[in-house]
This record gives sequence, C-alpha cells and structure tokens, in this order.
Amino acid sequence: RIETVRLRPVLDSRGNETVEADVLTESGGFGRAAAPSGASTGEYEAIELPVDEAIAAAREHAVPRLEGRTFAGDQREVDAALEAADGTDDFSEIGANAAVAISMAAAKAGADVLGAPLYQHLGGAFRGRNFPIPLGNVIGGGEHAQDATSIQEFLAAPVGAPSVRDAVFANAAVHERVGELLEERGEPAAKGDEGAWAPSIDDAEAFELMEEAVDDVADEFGFDIKFGLDMAAAERFEDGEYVFGEDVRSTEEQVGYVADLVDEYDLAYVEDPLDEDAYEAFAELTAQVGEQTLVCGDDLFVTNVDRLEEGIEVGAANSILIKPNQIGTLSDAFDAIELAVESSYTPVISHRSGETEDTTIAHLAVATGAPFIKTGTVGGERTAKLNELIRIADEARL
Ligand code: PGA
Ligand code: ZN
Repeated sequence: RIETVRLRPVLDSRGNETVEADVLTESGGFGRAAAPSGASTGEYEAIELPVDEAIAAAREHAVPRLEGRTFAGDQREVDAALEAADGTDDFSEIGANAAVAISMAAAKAGADVLGAPLYQHLGGAFRGRNFPIPLGNVIGGGEHAQDATSIQEFLAAPVGAPSVRDAVFANAAVHERVGELLEERGEPAAKGDEGAWAPSIDDAEAFELMEEAVDDVADEFGFDIKFGLDMAAAERFEDGEYVFGEDVRSTEEQVGYVADLVDEYDLAYVEDPLDEDAYEAFAELTAQVGEQTLVCGDDLFVTNVDRLEEGIEVGAANSILIKPNQIGTLSDAFDAIELAVESSYTPVISHRSGETEDTTIAHLAVATGAPFIKTGTVGGERTAKLNELIRIADEARL
C-alpha cells in the first residue's frame, strides 16, 4: 500500500513552478514524477491550478484517500481515488497538475514494487514490440516564441527510421541543418520553449528550410524523413477567421490551404489545423487528405474520451494527441488511447511546452505501442525523454 505521498513545487523548463510528487509504499517502493505545463492550452483541458493551491488542495483531499488505503500498483484504484477526492469533472478542485504528478508517481512506485521498468508495468506482458517514431520540433513560433513563425511547430518526421536511435539522431541532425541554413541566410535565431529554432521568418520560408534540411538529412541517413506541422489553429482563430501572420482565411479557405500544403510538401502530420470546436471542418480536411497523412487533434480532443467520441462520429481526424496532464490521470489517458486504437485513430504521445526531466511519456508510448511520440529534439527536458526511449529500446530490444 501507499504509505506516504509528498508534494512540492519544483522548477519547469520555463523557470515556472510545477508540482512534483513522491509516492512511497509500505514495502519500500518509490516513485517520483512532475507535471508538465502548456502555453497553447486547449479550452477543454482539465484545470491546472496555481502550484501552491494545487498542493494544498491535494494534501487536504487526495493524500488522505491514498495513504494507507490504496495500492500503488493498482493504477485504476489510485486514479479513481484522485477523481473521487477532486469531485469535479475537470480536476478544478485539486488541480490536474497535482493529479497527474501523483498518478504518474504512483505508477512508478508500482513498477518499483514489482521490480519492473515502468513501460513493462504499464504495458504488461503482452505489450507490443514496436518503437514510437519521435516527431521533432525544429522550427517554431506561435505561443512558444515571440516574433517567429505563425505556425507553432514544424516537426521532422523520420518515418523510415529503422530504430528509435536513428530516428532521434535524424531529428537532431535536421535541427542542426536548419540552424546552418539559417546562419547561411543571415537569419539569427533564438530557440523557443521547446528548443526549436525561432527565427523571425514567415511560414513560407520555414517550409523551404524544412524541405531542404529534411532532404539533406534523409540523404545522409539513408531513410525516408518527412515533416509535419502543429498549427495550433485555435490560438489563431479570431471572429470566425484564421489569422496566420499577414494571411486571413475563412474556414473553407483554411481547409483548402492545409490540404494544398499536405500535397505540396507531402506532409506526414498536421496537428490542430483548425479551431478546437471545428469538428465539421476537421472532417472535411480529413476526408480530403487521405490516410498517409495524420490529421491529429490536440486542442480538439484534449485527451478526453467524450470529445474523441464526438470526433469519431463525424470522422473529424485520424489521430489524437495524448497529453496525460490534459485529462489528469494515466488511466484516463489510457482510455483515450484505447478508444483511439479501436477506432483506427493513431495515438501520438506528447510532451508540453513547459516540461521537466520526467520521462513518463517515453514509457507510456512504449507501453501502449503508440506509433509516434512528440517530445522535442534538443534541450535537457526534451533529451531526457529521447534518451530514455533509446535506453528502453536497448533494454526491450525494440
Ligand atoms: P503546449 O504546446 O504544451 O504549449 O500546449 C504543445 C502543443 O500545442 O502541442
Ligand atoms: Zn498542439
């Protein structure tokens, strides 16, 4: 059983406070995890409370339901206790930040008690044997950097990589190549919140750079590398129009624009190309682009089974982004993944723009056999996950 739950504020990658949880069990098991935090958050996400409030509320309501009463290895029980302690449907009482930190820490403590790695504890004996392909953010702007591209993320997608390590290093090479190209063009670039280059160029130039960098690195590495986008369009939707830099588009025009981009650049992946309420327009685009391109809902679905069901009904997408802190527990994230897989929606496990050294999502991706993981390219809080993936692949012979 869980003996002690400790909560404390720690730093995240933006220098903000976030919640860290320790879970200790009576048999000596230990797990520690920290909540990530978004900047371009979806309207329908579970609620992140100010850190001190979340910690105080979780200590008052959740910790007494866990200590001495719940088994760390029984993730459903832990997460049900968190939900009961909160009593709302969006974790607005104890905070999704406190909930997800405790949920993930309990999972790690459960794994520790079993003496199993976390991916094995979460995935079980019959988990799949495929490795997730990392999508690597290499140029970005939007809510993650000032005075940069209006499309939030340009992501390398090493779809032909023969191993997770090759994929990770290919993404790093694309990042480096883009840096060289920017230097050649005399475009000084800082980095955004996720470590992507954040030059003050327009989206059209970013497409050129991506195409060139991806081709160069594909030649060098000898396998197919495509690229993709997170348009985070909900952040750009104003009074019924999509405002990307100088360009203002109606919904119809946005659908056509994105479909053309998919064609022109053979995009592997398009996340949030439309507003977070635009189920019908999403469906139109998904019907147009075909199955080789993932149309992924992040702010649209917010890792929420109810919203995913709504999307499945109308054919809104063919992929869902999975961020455990959007929904508050690992159990709910698992349910969203399960429904996605049943419905032929590709799950993509994801970091947030504000991150810590926590590596839970790397284990979650392997445990669920997710085909993709989005967790940046460079920077310590990103490489923490990527290096963990390399280790897991080594150990589990993926
Ligand atoms: P966020 O951005 O973590 O700031 O929400 C990531 C994303 O939109 O995918
Ligand atoms: Zn997104």
